Amino acid sequence: MSSKIESVSGRKTAQEHVKTLGYRFVARLGEGTFSKVYLTEYTSRDAVGVEKLACKLIDTAVCSAKFRRKFLPRELAVLLRVRHPHIIRIQAIVKCHSKIFIFMRYAELGDLLTFILAHGAIGESQSRIWGRQVGLALQYLHESGIAHRDLKCENILITTNFNVKLSDFGFARHVMRSHEVELSSTYCGSFDYASPEILKGTPYNPKASDMWAYGVLLYVMLNKSMPFKGRTKAVYELQLARKWQFRSRVRSKLSHQVKSLVTNLLEPNPIIRYTIDETLINDWFMDVPKLRALNPDEFVCLAEARSVTRACSSDVLHVQSKLRQSGSDVITTIKQVEQRDAPQFKSNLSLKTSTILLLQDDSTVNDAPPDDEERPEPADEPDDPQQQPSPDDTRSL
Ligand SMILES: Nc1ncnc2c1ncn2[C@@H]1O[C@H](COP(=O)(O)OP(=O)(O)O)[C@@H](O)[C@H]1O
Ligand SMILES: [Mg+2]
Repeated sequence: MSSKIESVSGRKTAQEHVKTLGYRFVARLGEGTFSKVYLTEYTSRDAVGVEKLACKLIDTAVCSAKFRRKFLPRELAVLLRVRHPHIIRIQAIVKCHSKIFIFMRYAELGDLLTFILAHGAIGESQSRIWGRQVGLALQYLHESGIAHRDLKCENILITTNFNVKLSDFGFARHVMRSHEVELSSTYCGSFDYASPEILKGTPYNPKASDMWAYGVLLYVMLNKSMPFKGRTKAVYELQLARKWQFRSRVRSKLSHQVKSLVTNLLEPNPIIRYTIDETLINDWFMDVPKLRALNPDEFVCLAEARSVTRACSSDVLHVQSKLRQSGSDVITTIKQVEQRDAPQFKSNLSLKTSTILLLQDDSTVNDAPPDDEERPEPADEPDDPQQQPSPDDTRSL
């Protein structure tokens, strides 16, 4: 990994530092447990144009010690590595005193949960397109030796071209490569998407639990409701007894292929639950000719995931050492993607130019109201426009 190190002196506030790098905060987009997400505008040094980006801001001064020491370094280490057409693109990571700024592609249509709540359940053909895109992202992660561990609608983002991007690697962790199992004993993620083995509280295979969550995700898209409701013990028993069903209003409309796929994903035994490879060659996807082959970007990324051997633990150690550096006036570049118009996915996944910026300042970034000035259209990634979903349900989850 090559990285560029340069020193910057001065007493600018965090916002001013970030502004000097070309980022301007415009509005707040969302909020998580330890983060706030903002819409920002980025003007590159060559000032070729303005790009809308989302910025996830994490203040390590106010998050839990466990999150700061364990999950945050893992999240950043994973973000340094991953690159896939169906995973949100990271443009830069900046540390400014206690604050971490993660600049990424802005998903204009927001997250999938908000979308479903606004428009209803997703029709089967659109669910298949989005389900396959998330599935390919998951296949890439699993082949890269990474489990996501927080797959849910809130972490699926939708672009203006109606493509979805997997995001939020806050609970992601490195696991062994395919065919090997490294059990997890951290019971993380969302209760609604938790597999029976997670609810049971015994060490679990995180890839298999990702597949359970993926099954819940498909169910939610198709039904606009959760397959299981209740308290932990009751839900666990329902899961083991396979006591769930598609909602009556969609049951007769859905194909037997998708019903069979979801059944094989909501399989209580993780040993025989569908893997991501078994899922992607399922009839539900294969019956549609245009979904049988990978496009060149998907192909290149999967091939690289399969071929690149990485020292993942050294990534985490690298990030941890960067996070420990406090009080220094240093900017360290770990990831900085300037060429937004350059063809993507042509090079090796290892980072050629990447960035962590360490800025000395502890001032806060305030919620800046959106301004009224006209902004240029955001540059879009070269993704194919997909068909629009057909809203078919208006009940809340
Ligand atoms: N790139 C983005 N574009 C648009 N909205 C986003 C983007 N990233 C995050 N959001 C919004 O912010 C929310 C929280 O972001 P997330 O990364 O999931 O944080 P957390 O780890 O706190 O859950 C998302 O559910 C989504 O609504
Ligand atoms: Mg999230």
